[in-house]
Amino acid sequence: EQIKKGSYDHFMQKEIHEQPHSLTTTMRGRLKDSGVLLGGLKEKEYLKTIRRSRRVVFIGCGTSYNAALAARPIVEELTGIPVTMEVASDLLDRQGPIYREDTAVFVSQSGEKADTLLALDYALENGALCVGITNTVGSTLSRRTHCGVHINAGCEIGVASTKAYTSQIVVMVMLALAVGSDQISTQARRQTIISGLSSLPSNVSEVLKLDSEMKELASSLIDSESLLVFGRGYNYATALEGALKVKEVALMHSEGMLAGEMKHGPLALVDENLPIIVIATRDACFSKQQSVIQQLLSRKGRLIVLCSKGDTSAVCPSGSCRVIEVPEVADCLQPVINIIPLQLLSYHLTVLRGFDVDQPRNLAKSVTTQ
Ligand code: AGP
Repeated sequence: EQIKKGSYDHFMQKEIHEQPHSLTTTMRGRLKDSGVLLGGLKEKEYLKTIRRSRRVVFIGCGTSYNAALAARPIVEELTGIPVTMEVASDLLDRQGPIYREDTAVFVSQSGEKADTLLALDYALENGALCVGITNTVGSTLSRRTHCGVHINAGCEIGVASTKAYTSQIVVMVMLALAVGSDQISTQARRQTIISGLSSLPSNVSEVLKLDSEMKELASSLIDSESLLVFGRGYNYATALEGALKVKEVALMHSEGMLAGEMKHGPLALVDENLPIIVIATRDACFSKQQSVIQQLLSRKGRLIVLCSKGDTSAVCPSGSCRVIEVPEVADCLQPVINIIPLQLLSYHLTVLRGFDVDQPRNLAKSVTTQ
């Protein structure tokens, strides 16, 4: 049943709209009043070993890497353990240092990507505790890691990863909650995130109502040569992932950029023609993003601003930007909400530009070679 398109035209479209359900199954049986229960980490006191590690290293490719990047700040905040990020192929190219005292967390929808599996072999050789986060029960990743968590998002057919991305983020937020559960000082914060997780599927249903607005936005961008996406903090990953979706399926050049780097080069690209999406939902970086918007507008930038509901005039007092309003949720869960309009945008852009949605040119779901 899962591998039929049902009433949808494409698997990618179905998988985008399925997210309230896939997120529910990701969390099923794992959220408790007292905290989070991750069965795959219960055995052999793995949680204690992670707590004692000197560093957490997140390793993945493409969308899976972006999901880990989205979760990085909350893992650092709730566990106090430094987190470093590794693109699997780059770790291998550099033969970067991995130590026995590290926890290496491998993120992969398929659990079969060659780069990620080779990086896993490398981390195992170097004695790190290896944790797998995958959608595929029985995959090489789930068999070869010491322990792990299945994301339970259901089968993902579209080459462009959508529902796996949001479920991966949720699993890593739950991982942060579980590892950090021994810290009294963060108890109230953890409780807020747990209730945010419970209401996440209904907020995702809400944001999916933007579908026709995103189709209309797509039709205004159909002939653009390029699209920039600026994000920071929790939503730097959203910028990278939104841009990856646009280039991967809509075959349009797109770059996700760290808004804090804007003045160090990208600003030179800004003119009245280049469309720029700025992610400016409410979190600790909000006022910095307001000032980014002002700087872009003063260079006559063509802006599309993604903001929290009711913030249209706070992000664009001049009224000269196109605004997409999304529900506000806990900061570390906001990337789950914010990526959805960008998934919808890339889907509609692809259809309108006449490209193959589920089988993008030159790409395959399983990259089993390096
Ligand atoms: C996502 O839309 C891409 N198809 C690609 O970046 C993918 O996420 C990457 O190849 C990693 O795949 P994995 O999650 O199966 O390891």
